[in-house]
This record gives sequence, structure tokens and C-alpha cells, in this order.
Amino acid sequence: MSEIELAALREEYGRAGLDEADLAPDPITMFERWLGEAVQAGLHEPNAMVVSTVGADGAPSSRMVLLKGVSKQGFVFFTNTGSRKGSELAGNDRCALLFPWHPLERQVRVDGVASPLPREDVAAYFGGRPRGSQLGAHASHQSRPVAGRDELLAAYDEVSARFDGRDVPVPDEWGGYLVVPEAVEFWQGRPGRMHDRLVYRPTTQGWRAERLAP
Ligand SMILES: Cc1cc2nc3c(=O)[nH]c(=O)nc-3n(C[C@H](O)[C@H](O)[C@H](O)COP(=O)(O)O)c2cc1C
Repeated sequence: MSEIELAALREEYGRAGLDEADLAPDPITMFERWLGEAVQAGLHEPNAMVVSTVGADGAPSSRMVLLKGVSKQGFVFFTNTGSRKGSELAGNDRCALLFPWHPLERQVRVDGVASPLPREDVAAYFGGRPRGSQLGAHASHQSRPVAGRDELLAAYDEVSARFDGRDVPVPDEWGGYLVVPEAVEFWQGRPGRMHDRLVYRPTTQGWRAERLAP
């Protein structure tokens, strides 16, 4: 097997800069601007983000999830509440989001607090999903062990037959979360590792941004 020289893999960044004067007054407007640029640039799944949670034993865990909404309230994603992330959030609502927009030499980091979305918001989103995904959500008890792929496929067939000819209801263990941000960092790669890092935090006078050393 040929060895990959990881120590030699590096990129020089120089596409853009991020100055204090470029910042929107609040991180959500700023995030929407960068998300728009990620979409415009044709990035694959620009709404894919890494969500990190912490278990009862203090161990962190991370996984990709799709951002399905952003507003002044915060960031929204949907998942199975009985999954590892769901049970970790039930015990500790603090979490982190990361948007890895490598082709733009950017990342956005969010530290926040997650709360379950109201059932009507979950139902509204679930109702708009493709039928196959709705059936899959019933068939898969996310993050719990399965004996093999056959067991999963049999569960899918069973669910498919059960809901034949009618709407697929929202599974009890399916839900969504709103992550209310406590800090949002915008990172732009610059030459010589002199990257720009500007982090917003809430103050009594609204959001304030501070520069961090790269
Ligand atoms: C690009 C991408 C998008 C994903 N989007 C979601 C999502 O929106 N919701 C979800 O539950 N899992 C999503 N997944 C699967 C998760 O990464 C993960 O495997 C699953 O949620 C179980 O995670 P957990 O066991 O840590 O709870 C996505 C995976 C990828 C690679």
C-alpha cells in the first residue's frame, strides 16, 4: 500500500479576506450571506454540517446532519430523537455545529444550545419528505444495532406494506432541534496561516464580534 504523505499535504489560502468592516450586524445575517455564497459557488451539499454532542461520560461525538432551517431564532435540523445524538442532547443540550466550506477556504463554527422543535414543526417538515425517506424513518431505529442489512430491508418492506395507500405518519421517535447560538465564528483562510477569525457573542447591547488569532 502506498503511503500518503500527510505531512506534505497542505494548501495555501488566498481567495478572500474577512475584515471587521465586512461583518453584518448579527451572525445570522452574516451566516445567510456566506451560505448564499456557498450555494452560488455550487458546493456539494452546502447545508451539510457537523453536529457535535457530548455524552453522559463527557465523551464528544460528531456526525454530519443537514441544516433544514435558519432564522433569527437559530439553526434547525431533523433526526431520530432516539439516536446517539438524540439521547446525548436529552442529557446535555449544549452542542456545536461546523460548516466545512473547504472550496471557499471558509468554515463557520457555532456553539449553542439545542431544544426540541414543537411537534407541528416536525410534522410539517416530515410531511414534505419523499415517501421513501418517510418509510425509511419508520424502518430505521437510528443508531441501534441491527443483525444485518436483511433485517433493515425486511423492516422497510413491513412498513411499506403497513402504510400502503395512506399517508405515512411521523414516527414517534422522529424529531427536530433548534440550536440557539451562543457564539458564531467566521473563518476565512489567508496566506501564511494568517487566517481571519471573527467570532460573534451576544452582549447586553446586542451581538459583538471579536477577532481571534489564527
Ligand atoms: C451529508 C450527510 C447528511 C446527513 N444528514 C442527516 C440528517 O439530516 N439527519 C440525520 O439524522 N442524519 C443525517 N446523516 C447521518 C448522520 O451523519 C448519522 O449517521 C446519523 O444521524 C446517526 O448519528 P448518531 O448515531 O450519532 O446519532 C447525514 C449524513 C451525511 C453524510
